Amino acid sequence: MVGAGQLARMTHQAAIDLGVRLEVLADHEGDPAVQAGANRAIGSAHSIEDVRDLATRNDVLTFDHEGVPQEVVQTLEAEGFLVLPGSAALRIVQDKLLARQVLRNSGFAVPDFIGLGPDPERQVRAMAERWGWPLVLKARSGGYDGRGVAIVGEDDAASVLKGSATGTWMAEEYVDIDRELAVVGVRSAAGDWASYPVVETRQVDGICRELVMPAPIADALASEAAATAKAVADGINAIGIIAVEFFTTGNGMVINELALRPHNSGHATIEACVTSQFENHLRAILGLPLGATEMVAAAAAMVNVLGPADGSDPRTRLGNALTVRGARVHLYGKAAVPGRKLGHVTALGSDQDSALAVARRSAALLDGVVRKDDIGRGSACGQGEGVRPEAPVPGIGDLTD
Ligand SMILES: Nc1ncnc2c1ncn2[C@@H]1O[C@H](COP(=O)(O)OP(=O)(O)O)[C@@H](O)[C@H]1O
Ligand SMILES: [Mg+2]
Repeated sequence: MVGAGQLARMTHQAAIDLGVRLEVLADHEGDPAVQAGANRAIGSAHSIEDVRDLATRNDVLTFDHEGVPQEVVQTLEAEGFLVLPGSAALRIVQDKLLARQVLRNSGFAVPDFIGLGPDPERQVRAMAERWGWPLVLKARSGGYDGRGVAIVGEDDAASVLKGSATGTWMAEEYVDIDRELAVVGVRSAAGDWASYPVVETRQVDGICRELVMPAPIADALASEAAATAKAVADGINAIGIIAVEFFTTGNGMVINELALRPHNSGHATIEACVTSQFENHLRAILGLPLGATEMVAAAAAMVNVLGPADGSDPRTRLGNALTVRGARVHLYGKAAVPGRKLGHVTALGSDQDSALAVARRSAALLDGVVRKDDIGRGSACGQGEGVRPEAPVPGIGDLTD
């Protein structure tokens, strides 16, 4: 697996159970998957030599991120290495503009969009006549967690585009979103397909904060989302995990984004489903039978743990978070930087709200946002609304900010 972040780390966990030898190509010794004990090579995803070395020692090459240059992937394919997903599918998800074009040309609904050329400001002003303000500017590649996405008005469009290289940005209409949904599915080289229940994700500032599974939507909409994800996966010959993000609006559903790797929207599958997305990714790329994707509980919720604004490290508050009965805490071993994804908490429940309450409460304790009466109760209910304490709460050890 090229990359050694949290996705590789959780794939490594699944590989252990299957007795599969996973080797990761890591930028640094401290990367999450390396810390977790995966076999590793240190090198760059941009170096054909480094990636070829990795491929030479292994049966199949796969990815924990999209940042592997096309030349590298295509060269290795031409040299006969098995690369899954393949370069043709990867190319589409590496470029948000190309993804929009391919999807629209194949008849899928997407937000209206345009690629920006040498005079982006003029183009954006022209598109604003059609779409109105605000509109959305997106870096075609390299963005994640809302980085590279800007919702802009007339006054700030130019400043976002300033200094960008020609052709690296696109613009699209601002969608008045009812809900954001995601389908995580898995497709094998033989075309076998399975998908997990549709999730509803909730973003703040472009980054996923929490999700519930299944999404509280009508069955017909869930079926439509699942069928659309399968059609996209078949259409681009996705192999392994694919995540398809949707916006629902007053007039139906549009596809937002695609990813061809285990995805944040699928982390809850570790506890909530018979087979996790990480195990299914391995099964698919190794030509093994796909695992069942059904839920093992009525509902599940996941809350991401982001680096707190004060720079404090949620790991120092692990003991607090673990007082919440039923919360399943995952920390990725990453340095605490404000806003960075450092972990997530999953909970199962009899309905989405009760699962979400548990996950939120535990995640809030990791964030350092607590109410005194949350501490040490050993069970969870309520909404986790809280305040950062002025001083450490007595009796709970390491609540240092
Ligand atoms: N056209 C749009 N209209 C309204 N909101 C959008 C639009 N595109 C993106 N967003 C918001 O920004 C978030 C991040 O955008 P996305 O394209 O998924 O980039 P990323 O690669 O950062 O996930 C989305 O989940 C959504 O909340
Ligand atoms: Mg997205």
